[in-house]
Amino acid sequence: MTLLEQVRKGRLPQHVAIIMDGNGRWAEARGLPRTAGHRAGAAAAERLIRFVGPRLELPYLTLFAFSSENWARPRGEVEFLMDLLSDFLRSRLAEFAEAGIQLRVIGDLSRVPDRLRREVCEAVAATRDNRGLRLTIALSYGGRQEIAAAARRIAEEAVAGRLRPDAVDADVFAGFLETAGAPDPDLVIRTSGEERVSNFLLWQSAYAELHFAQTLWPDFTPAEFVRALAEYQTRTRRFGAVEEATA
Ligand code: IPE
Ligand code: IPE
Ligand code: MG
Repeated sequence: MTLLEQVRKGRLPQHVAIIMDGNGRWAEARGLPRTAGHRAGAAAAERLIRFVGPRLELPYLTLFAFSSENWARPRGEVEFLMDLLSDFLRSRLAEFAEAGIQLRVIGDLSRVPDRLRREVCEAVAATRDNRGLRLTIALSYGGRQEIAAAARRIAEEAVAGRLRPDAVDADVFAGFLETAGAPDPDLVIRTSGEERVSNFLLWQSAYAELHFAQTLWPDFTPAEFVRALAEYQTRTRRFGAVEEATA
């Protein structure tokens, strides 16, 4: 039995979220500009999306493409990344739509160039009725910013008299996040050897299993993704409780 077959028979996560890190180092190691690493990183993301849809029954995949803090990078790199995302959406949309992928985007799109924002909205609208892989791209996304925005909207609702402050619990709060309605990530993968969450899905990852891979993102293959799932299947998730038999 191949590892993929074994993984498919086991308990699959509902939602895997990936911090795609290490593009710059991949390029630097080859004497190339960082932008070449981002191009190779986009190809790696594409490879994974093509693999996951048809080969695994994974309902939700979230990819961290650009953080709120990444706006502080040199202007040339930021512009390159925005253009790359634009190209990615334009050139792959038909194929992804065909594959039944439902595209979602989380993040502060007000900071994104107009053209990309339009393309994002069109791609989301065009795939809204698809029932295959829910693919979320986190773009101009920060977990703290998302939580602050939710708190702001809750405060507005309360001030307007539509929400009682004492009705706000964790479930109600989650309903104000951009990820409302989606399951929390069961597994968060970060590539490149860095072991931190860098403001990604802070609320939603409360009980996620974390998997840190040494591989730089452009080198991350579907085979390594399957190995990460196999390793995830060996973990015991407790959610703060103890097993009945040992309690
Ligand atoms: C991840 O790779 C891509 C983005 C954050 C946009 P990096 O660009 O962070 O690559 P490193 O971490 O510098 O190698
Ligand atoms: C996290 O990577 C953001 C994305 C992968 C899009 P960074 O490279 O920006 O994170 P830090 O700065 O190393 O924490
Ligand atoms: Mg990085």
